[in-house]
Amino acid sequence: MTQTFEEISPADFFYRNRDIAGFTNPSRAVFASIRELVENSLDAAEIAGTPPDIYVRLTFEEDDQESGIYKLRVEDNGSGIVSRHIPSAFGQVLFGSKYKLKQSRGTFGLGGTMAVLYGQITTHKPARIVSSTGSTKVYIYRVMIDIQRNKPIILERRVLLNKEQWHGTIVEFSLEGDYFRAMPKILEYLKQTALVNPYANITFIDPKGRLFKFSRVTEKMPPPPKETLPHPYGVDVEMVKRLVRVTPHQKMMDFLSAHFHRVSERIAEKFLEFSGIPKTRNPKKLDPQEIVRFVQMLKRFEEFRPPSAACLSPLGKDLLTAGILKELKPELTIVCQRKPSTYAGHPFIVETAIAYGGEIPKGGDFVLYRFANRIPLLYDEASDVAFRVIKSMNWRRYKVSPNMPIAVLVHTCSTKIPYKTVGKEFIADRPEIKREIQNGLREVARGLQRFLSKREHVEREKRRLSVFSKYLPKIAKFSTELAGRERQPEIEKLLRSVNTSG
Ligand SMILES: Nc1ncnc2c1ncn2[C@@H]1O[C@H](COP(=O)(O)OP(=O)(O)O)[C@@H](O)[C@H]1O
Ligand SMILES: [Mg+2]
Repeated sequence: MTQTFEEISPADFFYRNRDIAGFTNPSRAVFASIRELVENSLDAAEIAGTPPDIYVRLTFEEDDQESGIYKLRVEDNGSGIVSRHIPSAFGQVLFGSKYKLKQSRGTFGLGGTMAVLYGQITTHKPARIVSSTGSTKVYIYRVMIDIQRNKPIILERRVLLNKEQWHGTIVEFSLEGDYFRAMPKILEYLKQTALVNPYANITFIDPKGRLFKFSRVTEKMPPPPKETLPHPYGVDVEMVKRLVRVTPHQKMMDFLSAHFHRVSERIAEKFLEFSGIPKTRNPKKLDPQEIVRFVQMLKRFEEFRPPSAACLSPLGKDLLTAGILKELKPELTIVCQRKPSTYAGHPFIVETAIAYGGEIPKGGDFVLYRFANRIPLLYDEASDVAFRVIKSMNWRRYKVSPNMPIAVLVHTCSTKIPYKTVGKEFIADRPEIKREIQNGLREVARGLQRFLSKREHVEREKRRLSVFSKYLPKIAKFSTELAGRERQPEIEKLLRSVNTSG
């Protein structure tokens, strides 16, 4: 028997394996589409440096509510996309602008395109993209994806004058879905997105015409992340080969300090001495074996400083607190931001928070909110590192008892979040990340413990006082009668003094 071999394109691969990108069934597909487009919009608004205004509308297609075909439209006031990249941005899988070394929500050049691809394979309709970078023109495209070739097919291109200097993007396409099954998750997603992006306005109109509005409480955005160079502990042989190919430098000394993060001339010199590579050696002349050894030596050298966190953009205590107060309305919020740390050469920062009381629901286990690079993670909670850490903690030590109204938040940001799937639902157990989450949670738990102890004390005093105020008048009356007196002693003053001594 002869075997036949063939090659498939990346788009074809994701068409065949859409589960791994989160497009498992009609319900998950509506959720994932909204999520991917909202994330693109948030990223784009951050690039533009404007607080995001995002408008999401899901309608039944042509009033036919039975067919399960919807039209999704997401509009933002972000950076917009340069005209010539619009077709590929939505018509080519693994094409994107976020492969750089800095924190962003998108990572694979996959999400938005995957949504469009799913729409196409379920409705056979093109997607419509309207975008402007704020120039004099607005571009309108109608595109489909040539799945077998992983190339956009442009069906229509129109150019309008941009009189109002609008910048942003509108994406509109049809897809098969099951909104009513997906609804709880979609609303939860939007609420949690509003929590970690308290500077965003998000409006959602659902197929029944109901309006859900999440309004910003601040215009302040976290400082944007800066692009960074690869850290010596995070590179591999392939990356060094690529750097060698593009470098203009002829000496190892200059090569090291130009292309690697945290490598000053002094450190470069020390490293070259340590690894026995001459300072003047031409990097382009390194043979494959030497490159392998070079990478090994990089990992062995202990004097590289840890990566800087400038490429990260955590939320910060004030914004996280504002988001929690706005969406969860608790009585108490305790927030902690850990210092930057690294795993395998990738910098990361963990932020943790505990919210207590107020409108936080009581009962059972407490609610866990997980976030990564300012996106909520809603599925597969039990597989997530944060969940495991919470389960492993001895909460009784912190005076936490079952049925308390408690919500726990964990936000991890990194240039490379170790997701276990491309659907970006849960974070792998990296020991370094686990440790930071543990320390962060312990810190906020101690804060909660102090609050609960103080409250316990106040309650005890209150009870003591209520015992006094209940019996003291009776004792006063009784002893007055017993002593055969007319006038009862003044007990108000006495009660007041008991009260203030507490
Ligand atoms: N709303 C938007 N505003 C600006 N650019 C966008 C928008 N949506 C998508 N893009 C561009 O299209 C690219 C591909 O998007 P996507 O397929 O979601 O992949 P990713 O977000 O992982 O890069 C992005 O990298 C970005 O450059
Ligand atoms: Mg994306």
